[in-house]
Amino acid sequence: MNTLIYGANGQLGRDLLRVFASRGDCVGVDLPEVDVGDPEAVGKTAIDAAPDVIINAAAYTDVDGAESDAETCWRVNVDGARHVAVAAESVGAAIVYVSTDYVFDGSKTTPYLPEDRPNPTGVYAESKAAGEDAVMEAATRWFIVRTAWLYGPGGNNFVEKMLALARNHPKLRVVEDETGSPTHTKDLAEAIAALVQTDAYGIYHGVNRGQCSRFAFVQAIFEMAGLDVSVQPCSAAEFPSAAPRPAYSVLDPAALERVTGEAMREWRDALRRYMQRREELA
Ligand SMILES: NC(=O)c1ccc[n+]([C@@H]2O[C@H](COP(=O)([O-])OP(=O)(O)OC[C@H]3O[C@@H](n4cnc5c(N)ncnc54)[C@H](OP(=O)(O)O)[C@@H]3O)[C@@H](O)[C@H]2O)c1
Repeated sequence: MNTLIYGANGQLGRDLLRVFASRGDCVGVDLPEVDVGDPEAVGKTAIDAAPDVIINAAAYTDVDGAESDAETCWRVNVDGARHVAVAAESVGAAIVYVSTDYVFDGSKTTPYLPEDRPNPTGVYAESKAAGEDAVMEAATRWFIVRTAWLYGPGGNNFVEKMLALARNHPKLRVVEDETGSPTHTKDLAEAIAALVQTDAYGIYHGVNRGQCSRFAFVQAIFEMAGLDVSVQPCSAAEFPSAAPRPAYSVLDPAALERVTGEAMREWRDALRRYMQRREELA
């Protein structure tokens, strides 16, 4: 299989590149060479690579920054999504668009299913939901894979931010009233690789199994890192942010598992695997 990845320097993009390069020909592009907001550059890249599958992991991911820079966010996450989907269609490739748990408003109390109706709040969330729509409109062979709370090597993610904070803070307060699905980029990349072997086009939730609060996530991170940091629970209201966050955005990966025939790893096992990788890469 010949694969083309846009956004290949991001934390997910890098793991996608590793996984797909081990299974076939794979080309990865990112800024500054290829801007997904530029339809000509996107189209030319697709023609040159002649892929069977295109994965769009390029995104504007600054959730709070998007509130004051909606134009850039929309250009990347919506216009970019459309340009990549149009390019995939024109070269006869299937497309994977990576989306987010934030398309949901968080009002459910049980894991979100792919068929649940999005109700995004905030510019980033709205742009990703509109990106999904753009892909469904422009392409015929599409997979939309929503993920959540992603962490991977080299990423500016929650795990790394908490480990950095722990260096200078013996005590931390962490939000307890946000619950989600922490997900290791490697597991998501492997699941996407299995998914594109099928022609079961549609919307999927690509996350590690289980759920936890930010507070429980941090407790697990510090325990696995062997750090003795006092962590106190607090409410999200104590850390006001520019963009709203869903209080509950757990995603159910069962549909993805049914199609790939592979169970997603439980979030604690996935985190343990990531902590080991960090040590190997250090
Ligand atoms: N991170 C999370 O917790 C999370 C949660 C749910 C869903 N997702 C989704 O998962 C996907 C991957 O996220 P990630 O965490 O890997 O994000 P990331 O590390 O920020 O990677 C995104 C990549 O896209 C690139 N990019 C930005 N603007 C671009 C443009 N105009 N043209 C081409 N490339 C551009 C970025 O380059 P620069 O770094 O130079 O800007 C970066 O290399 C995204 O679709 C995101 O919405 C992420």
